[in-house]
Amino acid sequence: MAGGRARVAVSILDADHSNMAYAIRRAEREGADRLHIDVMDGHFVPNLTFGAKMIKGIRPRTELPLDAHLMISDPLQYVDEFLDAGCDSVTVHVEVEPALRKIRAAGRAPGLAVKPKTPLAALEPYRGLFDIVLVMTVEPGFGGQSFMKDVAAEKILAARQYLGHKPVEGEVQVDGGVNRESAEFVGGLGVDILIVGSVLWIKGRNMGREIRLVRALADEGYQYRLNDGKPPIPRDAMVMFTQLPKHLAWRFMAEIEKGGIPVIPLRGSGQFNPDGVRDYDLLIPAPAEALTTERHAADRERYLAEAERWREAYIAEFGIKPPETLRPMPGSVPAAGHPSEPPHP
Ligand code: DX5
Ligand code: ZN
Repeated sequence: MAGGRARVAVSILDADHSNMAYAIRRAEREGADRLHIDVMDGHFVPNLTFGAKMIKGIRPRTELPLDAHLMISDPLQYVDEFLDAGCDSVTVHVEVEPALRKIRAAGRAPGLAVKPKTPLAALEPYRGLFDIVLVMTVEPGFGGQSFMKDVAAEKILAARQYLGHKPVEGEVQVDGGVNRESAEFVGGLGVDILIVGSVLWIKGRNMGREIRLVRALADEGYQYRLNDGKPPIPRDAMVMFTQLPKHLAWRFMAEIEKGGIPVIPLRGSGQFNPDGVRDYDLLIPAPAEALTTERHAADRERYLAEAERWREAYIAEFGIKPPETLRPMPGSVPAAGHPSEPPHP
């Protein structure tokens, strides 16, 4: 997994269709974060490509996530086949609510794509039903067309407002004409996934270098346009939100997770409690740190105070269980030279 926040999905549309297994192995080896698979029916777009059967064949050959982009007139009729084939996400154009619901019910990510001339407002009726907004910056149908900068400028940043229900895993993707020339610009608009096709398959091109370049440029754009010059934190990094005794940690975790922010409880470096069990660390995804603080800073104070009361009550009733050597007694100051506890956040 790459370090920064931008991710590259390699579109296999312009790979050698007579040797797909090789193309996929190559993309994986060269550092693709995902594979993007354009399914076209010759009706919704004037081109024909692959079907669910090919995706099924690819599935056991790579561990990369497979994103299916269905440019077909009747996605509902075929969506089950694409789910069975093992797609990790399925993005549709035609706004069919049942298809989005099926994709979610199968535990995959549902996506809605908007063509260059379709306004973002077309997403409105489906709010909450999709986790991906795919912004098309070329007319769908073919690789190798040129990037529509004005469409990107109008939609990429604005698309985020349709993903409010998904504060961590919601994704804005950009598809069409993305390359080293356009990567910094779309990165500066906060795009999460850059779908890159034709430029990676040019004969003699170093695919791995191209992928790294596109990712790095996108992160650079994000840093200087959206993040006050601070380098973006990796999307998969976790940070500590608080440390609490187990019973309180579990309660707080459930409250935070209700708002769509995943929490990992870890037995870590927290202080020892009078029952002999350390506080648990509650970790949250770094990109959601500001949001979690905004929502839960006051709750955190309440929980920490409740933890203090619980410790005192426990000591009053049961005393202190081992190990007690590292534990400062309530109200005491750790002696000089004594191993000290990490401070409470
Ligand atoms: C176009 C497809 C794209 C295509 C992008 O309809 O949706 O995914 O592969 O290719 P490039 O990067 O060449 O525009
Ligand atoms: Zn596509």
